[in-house]
Amino acid sequence: MTNLGWYPGHMTKAVRMMEEDLRLVDALIELADARIPVSSRNPDIDRLFRDKFRILIFNKADLADPAENERIKEYFESRGQSVLFTDARDRSNSADIKRILRQQCSKKLERDRKRGIIGRPLRAMVAGIPNVGKSTLINSFIGKASAKTGNKPGVTRGKQWLRMDKDIELLDTPGILWPKLEGERTGINLALTGSIREEILPLEELAQALTEYVNGHYPGLLMGKYGGEDIGSIAVSRNLLIKGGEPDLNRAVRLLLDDFRNGKMGRISLESIV
Ligand code: G4P
Repeated sequence: MTNLGWYPGHMTKAVRMMEEDLRLVDALIELADARIPVSSRNPDIDRLFRDKFRILIFNKADLADPAENERIKEYFESRGQSVLFTDARDRSNSADIKRILRQQCSKKLERDRKRGIIGRPLRAMVAGIPNVGKSTLINSFIGKASAKTGNKPGVTRGKQWLRMDKDIELLDTPGILWPKLEGERTGINLALTGSIREEILPLEELAQALTEYVNGHYPGLLMGKYGGEDIGSIAVSRNLLIKGGEPDLNRAVRLLLDDFRNGKMGRISLESIV
């Protein structure tokens, strides 16, 4: 457990901090990674946020298999929960998210109005596991023109809010949800997508897990792209060799891990929602 980049104490602290921040917001925008729709969510948050409005977003949808994105959508919609798929770098997501926030919170706003609370903005927080795209999403909402709304003594002491629109504010520090590491596969998925340190396993084992998965679920893909199906043959076919003509496994491993992460390998999902 020492190499994961976090330890259970981290998680307790992160959860405590989130619980404190939660009191300040009406809604939670939860980000998950579309390529690992199960491994990138922590089931504990269902309990933690049961009293909040929630928007569930599967980010990095541009890197995920479109067929798996569709499955995720059907899975949640059949359970009465709508989900969004985003590339957080794209600013056009903002309109959809604002619409859903206003819709979800409309009854609460109405109640507030009846109690004489008028003009208080909706407040939301963005949360998700490390590297899922929280900061990118917040930046895409706000852009360069944004102004911090400043501290409001008494209500939001010590917290910075960013104005997303005239009636919506975002807590500017993203909430970090720690992934729940259940089983080796979850760890591998999180390491492959870059949410925990890749050194949880020797890198060659990680790349091996990737090639096995891709060969099983996307037959022909590696052969078509790299001229081989395993690390050694890919090294040879890509002419990644060390002195003496032996395959340079380290460089092939790096190539495969990097290509997977930045989408050069193709749109690949590492698990299915069901
Ligand atoms: P975090 O706050 O949740 O830790 O994540 P952050 O926004 O820092 O995003 C982590 C990396 O993922 C960044 O790349 C970011 O550009 C990329 N990213 C975020 N959302 C998406 C998405 O929807 N699709 C794709 N393809 N990439 C996304 P980086 O390598 O750290 O920086 P850079 O190389 O993009 O500059």
